[in-house]
Amino acid sequence: MDYRSILADVASEVQPYIGRGQAAQYIPALANAELGRFGMALADVDGDVVGVGDWEVPFSVQSISKAFSLALVLARDGEGIWRRVGREPSGNPFNSLVQLEHENGIPRNPFINAGALVVTDRLQSLTGDAAGAMLEFLRAESENPHLAIDQAVVASESAHGDRNAALAHFMASYGNLENPVADVLHHYFSQCSIEMSCRDLALAGRVMARYGVRADGSRLMSRREIKRINAVMLTCGTYDAAGDFAYRVGLPGKSGVGGGIIAVVPGRCSLCVWSPGLDTRGNSVAGVAALDLFTTITGWSVF
Ligand code: DON
Repeated sequence: MDYRSILADVASEVQPYIGRGQAAQYIPALANAELGRFGMALADVDGDVVGVGDWEVPFSVQSISKAFSLALVLARDGEGIWRRVGREPSGNPFNSLVQLEHENGIPRNPFINAGALVVTDRLQSLTGDAAGAMLEFLRAESENPHLAIDQAVVASESAHGDRNAALAHFMASYGNLENPVADVLHHYFSQCSIEMSCRDLALAGRVMARYGVRADGSRLMSRREIKRINAVMLTCGTYDAAGDFAYRVGLPGKSGVGGGIIAVVPGRCSLCVWSPGLDTRGNSVAGVAALDLFTTITGWSVF
């Protein structure tokens, strides 16, 4: 396969979608992102990494971090996390409160904000520094020691974090947090505020494409466990658009309101696409279109 020419074809066909949608308005530090940006990278399981457009420009990973925090918790702690968070699609927006009360403070899945707060809480208990553990892991997998947390984004999220604070306090009232709400929020905002490029994220996502094998050849988790992460990404990784994403792209994927999306072709490669214009469900318009084109051109969906 000539990866470069595939990505060049995708980049040229996706042009009409670039600039559509809106940057995330509820996080002021992200609200003025340049909508005309577009980048895409592919890292294959053997170590090749190629990209197109703005593929080496760092952006805020936001909810893409949730895939990695789940991986770190499952790797360190096994399946116990599933007593505190479900694994069913929510069909609701990523920051919704509505299901929590009916479901006793147990979030539907680890990728909506409530579920991610529980996972970060567990990672904090396991490591004493959830965001630091995530940063260290992502630096190693992307082979980029310069990755950093953008403190301006952390401050912006904290200053406008009432919804996440409400989710966290509500779950704490059900006894579903082990650490103080303020600590959990700080580590959650910090992990979301890590800056990475498509190149970095495609390389980091390779652990999912390589069935749990890390960049240094060691094993993060078993093939059975990585199957579970990929399955939850497929069913819940793009929130209330997960059905449409499966229909159009047909790959496990995880989006973030920074405009990035990672996707995994198990056994073959990992992908990351970035363009800041979001649809109403918080997924990059050009990003979803690019992944749709990619699986159409290559035939590499899981279906
Ligand atoms: O908690 C938030 O709202 C953000 N830090 C992350 C949200 C996000 O990326 C949802 N994704 N599409």
